[in-house]
Formats: sequence, C-alpha cells, structure tokens
Amino acid sequence: MKKARQDIDSILEKYPRHAHHLISLLQDVQEAYGYISPEHLTLVCDHVGAPLTQAWAIISFYKSFSLEPRGEHEIKVCLGTTCHLKGGDRLARMCERDLEVKRGQTTRDQRFSLDTVKCVGACALAPVVMVDDGYLGKANIHSLKERLKKL
Ligand code: FES
Repeated sequence: MKKARQDIDSILEKYPRHAHHLISLLQDVQEAYGYISPEHLTLVCDHVGAPLTQAWAIISFYKSFSLEPRGEHEIKVCLGTTCHLKGGDRLARMCERDLEVKRGQTTRDQRFSLDTVKCVGACALAPVVMVDDGYLGKANIHSLKERLKKL
C-alpha cells in the first residue's frame, strides 16, 4: 500500500493544484491502475480542489473511466444496429456463459472484463467484437471462442 501511495503521489505532483487538471489527472490514474479507487478519487479531488461530485460526473460521462478494477483483457461486443442484426447479442450471451461474467463486469479471476458498445465504426465487418485493442470482424461463435482461447 505504501508503494501505491508513492505512485499516486508522483502522479499528483505532475499537475498544479487547479481544477482545470481534474480530467487529465483522472486519466493518468486510470492509466496507471486500470481503475479509479475511492481513495485515489478523494486524493485527486483534494489535490485540485474539486468537489467529488464533479469528478463523479466526469467518470460517469466517459466510458473510459472505471471505478472497479478491470480485467487483464477487455472484450467489447458491438451491439450497434448492424452488429445486433447480424448476431452481436448471441456473441455477448456466449461470452457471458463461457466466461461466467455479466455485461459490464469482470471475471472473478480478473482475467476478462465484458462490455457492450454501440457501433465501433466498422459496420462492414459486422458483427464486430473488440478484444483488447484488436477487432474481430465478421465474428461468429467459433471465431470468438478461438480468439478467447488464445488469451
Ligand atoms: S454497428 Fe457494430 S460496428 Fe457499427
């Protein structure tokens, strides 16, 4: 815990104590820890002099922020209109069943986080599943299972 505290201090020290830096600081904490813990949220707000409600509003607005630890691998099943029509929901249900995790949650072993998203801009490849930073286009149950096995 002491090391974690030192790490957060080094992040805080990079920014002047002003509320203009709230989003940048939250982004750095998210990047460093994979999520923003209640303790870190308080430290960030204290540092820049912003109310917790302001930070809370930012975190709620941007999907890139998480208040819970994220899995080692991020799986995002596209459920935009085109992907939904081409079976995206079936892929999401397969992930829930095989990984034993609900949408928006992380597996108990912290290996996978499962989310759904609305159109990732690759409709020609529908249905699309993002696995970490990569796209699995024209995905089906078989190709998705194979991709997950490799992880
Ligand atoms: S709807 Fe899935 S990429 Fe556009």
